[in-house]
Amino acid sequence: MHIVHTLPALAEALKPFRHPAVVPTMGNLHDGHLALVRQAKPLGDVTVATIFVNRLQFGPKDDFDTYPRTLAADCAQLEAAGCDLVFAPSEQEFYPQPQVFRIAPPPALADVLEGAFRPGFFTGVCTVVMKLLACTQARTAVFGKKDYQQLMVIRHMVRQFNMPIDIRGGDTQRAPDGLAMSSRNGYLSATERAQASELHACLQAIAQALRLGQHDFSALEAQAMDTLRAKGWQPDYVAVRRQADLQAPEPGDAMVVLAAARLGGTRLIDNLEI
Ligand code: PAF
Repeated sequence: MHIVHTLPALAEALKPFRHPAVVPTMGNLHDGHLALVRQAKPLGDVTVATIFVNRLQFGPKDDFDTYPRTLAADCAQLEAAGCDLVFAPSEQEFYPQPQVFRIAPPPALADVLEGAFRPGFFTGVCTVVMKLLACTQARTAVFGKKDYQQLMVIRHMVRQFNMPIDIRGGDTQRAPDGLAMSSRNGYLSATERAQASELHACLQAIAQALRLGQHDFSALEAQAMDTLRAKGWQPDYVAVRRQADLQAPEPGDAMVVLAAARLGGTRLIDNLEI
């Protein structure tokens, strides 16, 4: 596996290839990321992972400074998963001047759910993803479905800009108790970790009610928020939405239920497609 830190070295390493399949990450990798790499492997002639903690998508009170930087361990795991090339630029390399050109996704898609609680988040994500897809010459890119709204926003961006890139979603990997794998699970104390699968259980309860024909989405959402609060969580949202565009579902639409909640100091997100 080749590891490069600069744009010229990346361009040089990509020269022999026609169809890079790319997995963008911020590092601190877990099995969820490695599953995306394995999914990407047969989809291109070179499998590329990027590792870059993108300042633009962190709010002023977010964990940018403390976000774990674990390059050596990440590279060892990527190599074992069959990755061919890692692009891990420094901030100076990737943002040599302030990034004044930004991609502003439409409010209907990006100012709801996560966007409502993390202003500017999807502008930061779209801007860095646009740059990462460009410099890796991606022809396929794989993003985790755990960040469901992110995947949706990126799909729409790539389509609207006519970028010739196949965007694939990778299934959420879960611990045996149902907790979605996330780099931020490492912030949970042992007690919080034992409790953390309650978020998934709450989504499952809504999914079950929907399958049984319950259609009062607001009541289901409110009930789930109450349940989480009663168990000591601070929920930001629990929402039943249409899979295609995350708007309120109409009868017959494929649905997804999404949630974000804090347990102690850790904010977790999860979702379930119905
Ligand atoms: O999902 C992530 O890890 C990040 O949001 C991404 C897509 C790598 C952009 O920084």
